[in-house]
Amino acid sequence: GRYQVFVTRSDMPQGGVDLLMKECDVKISHYPSVMPRDELLKAVTGTNAIYCSLTDKIDKELLDAAGPGLKVVSTISVGHEHIDVPECRKRGIKIGYTPDVLTDATAELTLALLLSTSRRLPEAQHEARTGGWKSWAPTWMTGPGLAGATVGIVGFGRIGQAVARRVKAFNTQQILYYNRSERPEAKETGAIKVTFDEILAQSDFIICCAALVPETKEIFNKAAFEKMKRSAIFVNTSRGGTVDQDALIEALKNNTIRAAGLDVTTPEPLPLDNPLLNMKNCLVLPHIGSAAIEARNVMSELTANNILAALKGCVMPAELK
Ligand code: GLV
Ligand code: GLV
Repeated sequence: GRYQVFVTRSDMPQGGVDLLMKECDVKISHYPSVMPRDELLKAVTGTNAIYCSLTDKIDKELLDAAGPGLKVVSTISVGHEHIDVPECRKRGIKIGYTPDVLTDATAELTLALLLSTSRRLPEAQHEARTGGWKSWAPTWMTGPGLAGATVGIVGFGRIGQAVARRVKAFNTQQILYYNRSERPEAKETGAIKVTFDEILAQSDFIICCAALVPETKEIFNKAAFEKMKRSAIFVNTSRGGTVDQDALIEALKNNTIRAAGLDVTTPEPLPLDNPLLNMKNCLVLPHIGSAAIEARNVMSELTANNILAALKGCVMPAELK
């Protein structure tokens, strides 16, 4: 018979789902949102493949629920901390993900967040809408520019490097990066490798593009914010877990740093009573880094093609090794 595939949400981009339907029996969740866990555990029973997103926890319990027929888990994301990778390996289950195809989209959003935070666009729009705009004013709504600035990028993988190439076009003075491993290809961006303490102390803008792994968990803690310039702008488009969020809230309250722009938080969604949502010097976006229409379409097709290849025993276009 045909392979069984389970798709964990009803609102996945159609392109990938169509590819699967041509060759497999596809069951799709009825929820255009995160499926309740108990229903998810039942729904995956006996399936050969799971098409999931970063909001689904793929752990031992879920793999047990799916049973021994499960061959592949494919996530429509580059991040994969929601998947128990060692447990999948142990069981011979392949993992698909979506690197590269979302790099440009995420770098674009990072630049948008950087400029919106530094030049205070949400505040400025609020003023225009609510009558705060009385006249052109020489010192009103000012914020630091990128030209002549030092930009530090923490985590210099595909996305970090794509951010560096874009930032360079703004006539920055220099771009620094910090990465745990050597990045020989980083040379081409012109960015300079420094230590974590150096990047904190020297940067006017600090951008986090680091994958969340044990070594990067809460690297942006109280001590890190205290080492930054008081004029620093902090931007995070990686994972909320790289930041000690309580320390960030304190740093923004006490003007230890100037402002923050966050596409990722802990938890997600951020509860409406979280102080970060009510601070003028903090801009929070709802994890939309890869949400360019083109990127999401290609991500959905790649997620499907990873499943099709794994089921047929072919080389997957993007297997997490
Ligand atoms: C989004 O955050 C992703 O990991 O793709
Ligand atoms: C993120 O995982 C990247 O590729 O930079």
